[in-house]
Amino acid sequence: MKVKEIIKRMKIEDKLRLLTGYDGFSAVRLDGVATGVQMADGPNGVKTKDGSATCFPYTCLMASSWDRESCYELGKMLGAECRTAGVDLLLGPAINIKRHPLCGRNFEYYSEDPVLTGALASRFVKGIREEGTATCVKHFACNNQENGRWALECTVDDDTLRNLYLKAFETVVTQAKPDMIMASYSSVNGVPATENAYLLKTVLREEWGFEGVVVSDWCAVENLSSAFQNGLDLEMPGNAKITVPALQKAMENGVLTEAEIDGKIERLLRLERFVKEKPQTATVTDGEVLRKRTAEAFVLLKNEGVLPLLRTEKLLVVGWRAESPRIQGGGCAELKTKSQSSPLAEMRKYNENCDYIPAYELSAEKLSALKKYDKVVVFVCVSDKNDSEAFDRKDICFPAEQTACVETLCRHHEKVVVVMQNGSAVETRFAENAKGLLETYYAGSYGGGAVADALFGKTSPAGRLAESFPLSLSQVSSNANFGAKKKIVYEEREFVGYRYYTTYGVKTAYPFGFGLTYCDFKTEEIEIKRTGAYEFEISCVVKNESAFDGKETLQVYLQSFSPFQPKLRLLDFCKVAVEKGGKKRAVIRLDKSHFERYENGKKILLTGKYAVCLAKSSEEILAEERVTLEEENLSIINEKTPLGFFLCNEKYRATALKYFEKAIKVWAFGDENATGDFEKEEFLKNSVYNMPMRSFVYFANGALDEEKLKKIVEELKTL
Ligand code: GLC
Repeated sequence: MKVKEIIKRMKIEDKLRLLTGYDGFSAVRLDGVATGVQMADGPNGVKTKDGSATCFPYTCLMASSWDRESCYELGKMLGAECRTAGVDLLLGPAINIKRHPLCGRNFEYYSEDPVLTGALASRFVKGIREEGTATCVKHFACNNQENGRWALECTVDDDTLRNLYLKAFETVVTQAKPDMIMASYSSVNGVPATENAYLLKTVLREEWGFEGVVVSDWCAVENLSSAFQNGLDLEMPGNAKITVPALQKAMENGVLTEAEIDGKIERLLRLERFVKEKPQTATVTDGEVLRKRTAEAFVLLKNEGVLPLLRTEKLLVVGWRAESPRIQGGGCAELKTKSQSSPLAEMRKYNENCDYIPAYELSAEKLSALKKYDKVVVFVCVSDKNDSEAFDRKDICFPAEQTACVETLCRHHEKVVVVMQNGSAVETRFAENAKGLLETYYAGSYGGGAVADALFGKTSPAGRLAESFPLSLSQVSSNANFGAKKKIVYEEREFVGYRYYTTYGVKTAYPFGFGLTYCDFKTEEIEIKRTGAYEFEISCVVKNESAFDGKETLQVYLQSFSPFQPKLRLLDFCKVAVEKGGKKRAVIRLDKSHFERYENGKKILLTGKYAVCLAKSSEEILAEERVTLEEENLSIINEKTPLGFFLCNEKYRATALKYFEKAIKVWAFGDENATGDFEKEEFLKNSVYNMPMRSFVYFANGALDEEKLKKIVEELKTL
C-alpha cells in the first residue's frame, strides 16, 4: 500500500508514537504499519553483541587515504556486514570538522578540511547505501568538542558556519543522499541544534533539499514541542510515555499540526521501506583488500633510509603495543570485534629474526646489546584515556614512559623506526632523532598485518595527513576558545588548521596534506589550463621511478590574496596509482562549484585575483597559475574586449582563432602563414591576450573591417 494511503488510515496517537524511538536503538515499529528500523553505531564497524563484526580502519585513518574509491569499498563491506548483523541503519559517518586536536572524538572524524571530508564521506555513504543499509550522518552541527558537549553553546559567524562547519554536510547531503541526519547536542548561535529551524529547515530542507529523517542525538532533545516544530522528525531513544502526551498537548496548543506530523511520518515510513527492500548483494568483507587499503592509508612522515625493513635484517621490536595494538577509539563507536592481528606476529612472518622487548624501559644491559641489531622498531600509543567520546584529551602527547623510551633508543641506536597509534594530531618532537616515523592511527582488525606489510614494503604507505600536526598546542588557532564547559566562541573563524598556519606562516611539525611513500614520484608536464570563466583543467604526468607500486595524491588549492580569507583552501584532489617504473597522467577538473562560497548569508561565486595551485601538500606547491575570476558578463563582450578573454575560454577559443589567428600571426611574426606559436612566448602571449579585439583589424590584410567585427561580436555572444 502507498505510504500516503497508510498515513491516511493511521490514528493520531499512532503517528505520535512513531516520532519517538521504539527502544534504545530501534524506531518506526508499529503493528500492522511498520516492522521497524534497527540502528547501531558505527561509524567504523557495526556494533553487535556477539563481537562478530570487523573493526574497520578508523575514520581518522581512512581520511588519510585521500582515496575516494577506498572509502567507497569500505562502505560496501560495512554496509554488507550491517545486513548480516540484522542492522538496518548505521549511525555514521561522523563528519564534524577537527577544530582542535584535543577534541575527544577527532578519531571518529575525517579532517580539518570540509572538502576532503565531504568527498570521502560521500563515497563511504554511497557504498553503505548500495548494500541496502541506511546511513545517519552526524552530528549536525558544531560538535567540535566533548567537554560539556551536552550543554555547549557555540557562537559562530554565518560565513564560518557555512564555509567550514556545514560544508561537508552540504556535500554529503547533496551528493550521497544519506537517509538520516543526526542533530547534535550543541546549541548553535543560541538555539539547540535539535530545535534549530535555521539548520534543520532553512539550510537542510529548503536550501539543500534533504528529504530524509532528522533524528536527535541520544537524549539531546530539551524541548519536545519546539524540536518537532522546528524540524526534528524522530527523538531517540524511545520515550513514548513522555513524548506522546507532550506532542498531543503541542497539537492542542496549535504548535504542531497534523499535516506537519504527516510529513514526518512519511519520511519515517519511506526510511523503513528503504531498509526493508534490500537489493541482492554478494559483497563480503575481504580481509586482504581491507589489509591493503589500511596499509595504503598509513602516513609515512619520515624515512631516512630505514624503510622498508628487510627480511634478512636483525630487528628488535620494542613496546607491548606491537603485540596488543590499540585499534580503535573509545565511546559509542567502540565495538567488540572478531579478531585483531598483531603487528609483531605479522612482522615475524616476514622476518623470524624479530627479537621483542615488551617493556618501555630497557636495562643498561639491553641498551648495550642494541648494537647487534640492524634496526629497532618501537610502537607507541596514546593512553587509553585519550581519544574517546564524552571527554576531550588533556594533551597531544604519548605517555612519558614511551617517549622517554624512544629518546633513549635514539641515543643508543642510529636506526630507530617509530610506529604511532593515535586518533588525532600528536606532538612528535620525541621522535626527532628517529630515522623513520609511521602514522598508523587506529587501524582496525586488519591493522597488524597492514603495519607489517607497510614496514616490509609489500604495500607502500600512500597516506597524506588530513589534519595538521602542530609543534605545540599554543599554535592552535582555536586554543583560546576550546574546552570551556559552556560558551564556545569560534573567534578564529575559518582560520582553522592549515587555513591558519599557511596564512600566518606558522610552522607545523607536519603540514596538512603531507606524506611520503617508498616510490620516487616525479610530477612532470604540469599544465593548469583555463577552459572557462570558472573552468580549469589541471593535469600532469606522475612518474614512478622506484621498485615499488604506489599511489600519489595530487591536491589543488586556491590561493587567495585577500587579507580577509584564508591564504589557501583545498578545492579538490585525486589519487593516482602508478606501478613501479611506470607513469600516469592525472587530470583534475574544476568547475563553478569549486568557486562557490557563502558570504553574508548568500552563496556567491568568487571574483577577483587568485592563484590555482597544484600541490603535494599545503606546504609544497608544485605549480600555480594566477587568475582573475569574474563571472561571465556577456555585456563585456564587445569590440574592445581583450582577445585573451576568448582564447582562455574553451567556449570561445575556436571561434576567436577562426577569425583572428592570421591577424595575430601578422602582428606577431609579420606573416599570416607563419608556423610560430605566439602562446609559447610570454611577451607575445601576454600582448595578444591584452590587446582589444578591434586592434587586430589593422593586421588582417583587409580580411576584417568594422562591419565584420560587429558580426563576430554578435556570434561570440551567442556561444
Ligand atoms: C551518542 C553519540 C552518537 C551516537 C549515539 C548513539 O551520544 O553522540 O554519535 O550515535 O549517542 O549511541
